[in-house]
Amino acid sequence: MIETMEATETQLAADIKELAREKNALILAHNYQRDEVQAVAHHTGDSLELARIAAANDADIIVFCGVHFMAESAAMLSPAKKVLLPDIDAGCPMADMAGADDLAAMRAAHPDATVVTYINSTAAVKALSDVCCTSANARTIVERVEGERIIFVPDKNLGSYVQRFTNKEIIPWKGFCPTHEKFSAQDLALAKEQHPGAIVMVHPECRPEVVDMADQVLSTGGMVKYVQTVHGKKIIVGTEMGMLYKLKTVAPDNEYVLAGKSFICPNMKKITLPKVLHSLRTGEPVITVPVDVANKAVRCLQRMLELSKQGNL
Ligand code: 13P
Ligand code: SF4
Repeated sequence: MIETMEATETQLAADIKELAREKNALILAHNYQRDEVQAVAHHTGDSLELARIAAANDADIIVFCGVHFMAESAAMLSPAKKVLLPDIDAGCPMADMAGADDLAAMRAAHPDATVVTYINSTAAVKALSDVCCTSANARTIVERVEGERIIFVPDKNLGSYVQRFTNKEIIPWKGFCPTHEKFSAQDLALAKEQHPGAIVMVHPECRPEVVDMADQVLSTGGMVKYVQTVHGKKIIVGTEMGMLYKLKTVAPDNEYVLAGKSFICPNMKKITLPKVLHSLRTGEPVITVPVDVANKAVRCLQRMLELSKQGNL
């Protein structure tokens, strides 16, 4: 049975690679994707790395194995390309926690503030913002953007993490990532007890009390870089389970333990190999953004890419 599944998976991967070559399609996969989806991708990475690749490549089609806001950002950064999201229902609940009308009201209430918006947001919200950021460059962007008061949308946890490093005032939104928010300080305390001496590495979407207990607080791309600097260590990983595949690939001499029993983003897991193949065959579902929204939102993304050019904090 397992052998049959493996044979099917191998065949699917071969078909995907061949069709991608024929159609000049680039497959991008976020670090939280299923192992087999990451394995078939041309590039894997965090939100910033994937946005950079989407902005600069000569493919005709981008198959985005991630969630909706990522595909939307790729479509805006690469308007001449067709961007496919293999499951149209792969959304991000945190992105849906910030609406354009509510942000307009927040702006009106704080007319002197600069709006820094996490890339995990809708295009409509980006269109009302001054600059975007990702978890890899949030500190850099807040420091480099003009203005001393910052409305930070939508992740309250990332906003509170950035506040630790800046004298600027962060006015937080109330959004959060349900996957990271569920992970408690008690869960981490238990993992530390079970694995004494292990290095603790968490994502800044985690609660502040979890961040307080970590040795390293990193974006998923930052985690990939960090594990390559240590050897023979046990590392407790406080983020989505898909991360383990990439960490084991780049630094197999460390031991990785997932913190918490169910660290899983159901939306990231909606993308499967059969859906990737179907998407390549049919050229659907295509992600598009209305031109008036895209014209404003893309400025916010480009501003982020410019401001984060010279190194990340
Ligand atoms: P990064 O991969 O940019 O760290 O983001 C994590 C995330 O939650 C993406 O949805
Ligand atoms: Fe959104 Fe959280 Fe899933 Fe990332 S892990 S896509 S922030 S729900």
